[in-house]
Amino acid sequence: MRIAVGSDHAGYDDPPPYYKPEIIKHLQEKGHEVIDCGTNGPESVDYPDFADAVCEAIQRGEAERGVLLCGTGIGISMAANRHKGIRAAVCATPDMARLSREHNDANVIALGRRVLTLDQCKAFIDIWLETPFSDGERHKRRVDKIG
Ligand code: RB5
Repeated sequence: MRIAVGSDHAGYDDPPPYYKPEIIKHLQEKGHEVIDCGTNGPESVDYPDFADAVCEAIQRGEAERGVLLCGTGIGISMAANRHKGIRAAVCATPDMARLSREHNDANVIALGRRVLTLDQCKAFIDIWLETPFSDGERHKRRVDKIG
């Protein structure tokens, strides 16, 4: 799968391991093609710029999914959800990762560097990538209403 990945400076919070490059490595090891949308270091940046870059890659058809990272996952998901056709889900538990796919057909996952371990991030991403959208009519109807 082609996956766009973006984070603000939280993706390079000390102490290492730095989450953003580790998440990219994890996705590549799983055989995915990654589009790295930045940022690429610890200098302070604005999370909406990286949400925009990932969402625009999806809107252009260059990526099928997006992974976003900020301190909590909250700000960057808010910015992502302003984009048409983007359904970004902040996930803080395995069930949220699974249900964001089954019920919400989330095409972006947003994770918090400052509230999750790296292993949790990788595990939630794996669940989220492996879980299909439910074929339940009610879920499709609700997602369609989001527009
Ligand atoms: C940046 O310090 C922090 O505010 C940001 O990463 C994010 O947590 C916002 O929601």
